[in-house]
Amino acid sequence: MESSLPGLEAILLVGGQGTRLRPLTLGTPKPLLPTAGVPFLAHQLARAHSFGVRRIVFATSYKAAMFEPAFGDGSAFGLSLEYMTEETPLGTGGAIRNAAEALTAAPSDPVLVLNGDILSGHDIGDQVRTHIARGAAVTLHLTEVDDPTRFGCVPTDGDGRVTAFLEKTPNPVTNRINAGCYVFTRSVIDRIPRGEVVSVERETFPGLIESGELVLGYADRTYWLDVGTPSAFVRGSRDLVLGRLASPALPGPAGEYLALDGSDVSPEAKVNGGSAVGAGAVVEAGAVVSGSVLSDGCVVCSEATVVDSVIGRGARVCSGTVVRDAVIGDGAVVGPGNELQAGVRVWPGVELPERAVRYSSDL
Ligand code: GDD
Ligand code: MG
Repeated sequence: MESSLPGLEAILLVGGQGTRLRPLTLGTPKPLLPTAGVPFLAHQLARAHSFGVRRIVFATSYKAAMFEPAFGDGSAFGLSLEYMTEETPLGTGGAIRNAAEALTAAPSDPVLVLNGDILSGHDIGDQVRTHIARGAAVTLHLTEVDDPTRFGCVPTDGDGRVTAFLEKTPNPVTNRINAGCYVFTRSVIDRIPRGEVVSVERETFPGLIESGELVLGYADRTYWLDVGTPSAFVRGSRDLVLGRLASPALPGPAGEYLALDGSDVSPEAKVNGGSAVGAGAVVEAGAVVSGSVLSDGCVVCSEATVVDSVIGRGARVCSGTVVRDAVIGDGAVVGPGNELQAGVRVWPGVELPERAVRYSSDL
């Protein structure tokens, strides 16, 4: 099973704009979006902690000031947290180099680096031990997906050595992709130019491979998800609530749904499929909520149906309305009798009048 790595430091990349998750990310950075009842990052922090990580440097940029109020010095998580901010985003490599200024690790020590939008069940301890045993420059966690074109495509040879790094290539040579969790030897980070925009995916990794350094793949087939799109974000929250991925940060037992303190779910409502109901959120009698994220203070009125969707903070889904595979921004009101489906996004504060939108082939 999983074993602990005391003293391991980590860098968490959390500076991206989360454009694919708009409008949810207009007011809140992606890593802070409520996911299964807590900010997304809480799941990553708790998981890193479970492997013995005790000190984490956040590499922030977009909405940087919102992170410290959410996580403070980290003591609530048994962690010591540092915040390093890029005034202008420096890309993944520039961010890692900038954050490394706050590391205490020695040049030959391993440093864990995590994308801030990943849910993964893999054994971080085993990845680090493999890195050390093989004396690699960098060890990349790899997973397999159906469509590798949206990710970093990573072919390896029979010994696990990475032979190329092809970021978002239209012609992937394998379904094995970069899963966004790296172990770097500290001195390799220090070689990234400081204060410059650098992409690890497009520059650092291809450069290391080109110069013959050992870039290693650590492949496995455990649970893995990048929550960077609305449908993936909803799926991630749902899987955590249902217990498909165990998280020490889940604020209650795994089950059909999770209702935070201060929420009000009518006994005559049907709530299931791994839905999360935020504080102060209301689900009225006769409503059906399945596989969805209901943010704090939102209201799902009587006889409304919400499936595989995100309802923003303080938003209102009126009676008889159907919201399926959609995102309703903070404070928006979807009037009665609307039918929103298939990736529709309602911007924050917008008020849709009664029966304004129908998504039916018979119209
Ligand atoms: N501090 C900082 N500064 N962080 C950044 C910056 C930046 O300029 N740019 C991106 N990030 C952070 C994001 O917040 C996110 O946590 C992480 O870096 C990766 O950025 P994404 O925008 O989510 O990239 P992606 O999902 O398209 O692709 C990346 O992840 C895939 C796995 O999910 C790449 O690493 C792919 O190779 C990989 O397959
Ligand atoms: Mg991503």
